[in-house]
Amino acid sequence: MNIGIDQLHFAIPRFYLDLKTLAEEHKIDADKFYVGIGQEKMAICPHDEDIVTLAVKASKPLINEQNRQEIDTILLATETGIDQSKSAGIYVHQLLGLSPHCRVIELKQACYSATAGLQLACAYVARQPNKKVLLIASDVAKYDVNSSAEATQGAGAVAMMISVNPRVATVEALSGCYTEDVMDFWRPNHRKTPLVDGRFSTLMYLKALEQAFNNFKNQNGHLDFSAFCYHLPFSKMAVKAHERLAKLLPSAESASLDNALIYNKLIGNCYTASLYLSLISLLDHEDLSHKRIGCFSYGSGAVSEFFALNIQKDYKSALLTASHQEQITNRSPLSYADYLTYWHAPETGEMSNSASGSPRLSGIIQNQRQYQ
Ligand code: HMG
Repeated sequence: MNIGIDQLHFAIPRFYLDLKTLAEEHKIDADKFYVGIGQEKMAICPHDEDIVTLAVKASKPLINEQNRQEIDTILLATETGIDQSKSAGIYVHQLLGLSPHCRVIELKQACYSATAGLQLACAYVARQPNKKVLLIASDVAKYDVNSSAEATQGAGAVAMMISVNPRVATVEALSGCYTEDVMDFWRPNHRKTPLVDGRFSTLMYLKALEQAFNNFKNQNGHLDFSAFCYHLPFSKMAVKAHERLAKLLPSAESASLDNALIYNKLIGNCYTASLYLSLISLLDHEDLSHKRIGCFSYGSGAVSEFFALNIQKDYKSALLTASHQEQITNRSPLSYADYLTYWHAPETGEMSNSASGSPRLSGIIQNQRQYQ
């Protein structure tokens, strides 16, 4: 049975900080960011945008009157959850007006959990081929101001409709995984921002790539790929990963990564959504009909997976490229002072209106989030 991604779409905040502005403020050479880590801008949420509003904006264009009845499961992957108990997906479900006869859960394992969601959704659809799963990855990646990780922030959501006979890509069942208990990046419950051992995290990422790929080789065996997508905390990480993979798979060397990096360089890390943002970037900028793509998903802590997608012949007609490009073009730059204001999101009260249109987080009143 052919199962996979029928359609996918991203949503990003309306604001960004150019890393040149950050470099000026820190009195360092902007090339450390533009060249050294390969990032140009990072998406910043105003106070009335969060993982719920981004998830709704990402999902809306995927829903029509027909599939509204067929979606009976929402999987929301995030590591910047807004509640320890209630799934953010329930707000999304209500704001999208989906059927009450729908299961909704939140998935967590750092940046990896959307890939777990993809595998779970495909397995579920194999059992219930007339149903569809709305899989959403949504995150606001924040690090401490003035930390060395500050330039690798970002925010965004990717929504994917998982179904039989998908228009965009089928997901192969045999993949390769690697899990190891490490402390490279983590966020204890009392903290708003993660703790990170930056250099170790990059080494761990590369180790996990090797291990997951070797496991993929043993499980799947087919190693013919036309293109690759990696989890993208910053674009230089993927460049290093690709060099490492080429040592294990020399045929990978000739595949260019450039098109898979375009959106991420302008948006930054969006944790669970980053790999899928890179996939959208690749699909929007290249003709990949009938091509096979190797994907590497990494989530600190750490869990990783190498898997394969088969791009469908007429996939371009299902893409929402114009919306992706409009969102990037229509964003506004922030001054450093405004970035700091948005970084310090209030935990209660009415949220100032950034005129971002609906949906928006209008306030947190009596510990309850209000969406409009
Ligand atoms: P840093 O210490 O600021 O940077 O931290 P650096 O001094 O290592 O410099 C970075 C690169 O810029 C170096 O190149 C420099 O040479 C170069 P490299 O040696 O790496 O090839 N450089 C310059 N290049 C050109 N012109 C210049 C210049 N100056 C320096 N003037 C670090 C960098 C990534 C460690 C930091 O930003 C960080 O801690 N980020 C967060 C952690 C992270 O993203 N880790 C990635 C792997 S783990 C992961 O992906 C999981 C994650 O997404 C979380 C999750 O799973 O939930 C993070």
